[in-house]
Amino acid sequence: VFDAEVERVLKAGWLPIARLSEVANAGDYVSRDTLGVPLVVTRDAAGAVHVLSRVCRHRGMPVVEGDGNAPVLMCSYHLWRYGLDGALLTAPAMQGSDIFDPADCGLPRIRSETWCGWVFANLGGGAAPLAPSVGPLSARAAALEAYVTAAVLTFESPWNWKVMVENFMESYHHIGPHARTLQQTNPGLGTYPGEGSDAFAMLENPTVDGSQGFLVAAVFPLHLLFVSGTDGLAGWYEITDLAAGRFTLNIHILAEPSLAADPAFVEVVKGQLNAIHLEDIPACEGVQKGVASPLYEPGPLSPLEGCLWRFHRHLQGCFA
Ligand code: FES
Ligand SMILES: [Fe+2]
Repeated sequence: VFDAEVERVLKAGWLPIARLSEVANAGDYVSRDTLGVPLVVTRDAAGAVHVLSRVCRHRGMPVVEGDGNAPVLMCSYHLWRYGLDGALLTAPAMQGSDIFDPADCGLPRIRSETWCGWVFANLGGGAAPLAPSVGPLSARAAALEAYVTAAVLTFESPWNWKVMVENFMESYHHIGPHARTLQQTNPGLGTYPGEGSDAFAMLENPTVDGSQGFLVAAVFPLHLLFVSGTDGLAGWYEITDLAAGRFTLNIHILAEPSLAADPAFVEVVKGQLNAIHLEDIPACEGVQKGVASPLYEPGPLSPLEGCLWRFHRHLQGCFA
């Protein structure tokens, strides 16, 4: 099932693979291994952002690892040099080959799109354009383009990625695991799904006094973000290193640059997000165990879980 999901859900869809701020300057590059595919995100001298295979077209050595800044990407094995747009520039001692054509030896370009400060990649290449499919969410997340990453919390997560999406996209469970935290400020029974479609979902989490609380949102299949209503703060639950029953969760705290530069503020937010996620872990671990039972059949959803219905519709569409 996981292999089928990789092909029909994950590679078929748009996956967030970097923040634009990670490739802010010409020559910046960041390596990613997305669904086992070695990629590199670059910014070229003209300012364009590219997502490329980072596997050398000669004999398969990765041309770069990690992050950095360089005018060209040079493979360390036989020194083939590629431009930041993937074009092969030079290859030593290939004159004797009568089949060698540099124009045929560029690094494969992966379809990409930038949205609200993220670089998204579509490995399958056939997805509908991203921005038009998530319009109402773009309006709410536009400010995040200018936010920077203030901190990242990392958790090894021994449960299926869909359990994480579902946990993130309903606040019904504030009355359970978050009874002493989120339920006090943003009661689960007061939350409601906003606009959405088979491509995205939004869940409003008003505060007890009815003022704008926070928005959680998903760009399916697995981009999870929240936007705080008032104070220049947002977050990204990044799901990486995917396997059938586990992944690595990187919770990115995104903030306006002035807030991100305030260590005291960042420490408070880190503490809050860490505490809330520690409350979610037993629920996710429990569900992972429970859904594996041969006696489990999915039960009815609450109207508070409309975003899960949208997620399921998205998955059904991938397998239609
Ligand atoms: S494998 Fe990269 S130059 Fe030979
Ligand atoms: Fe939760």
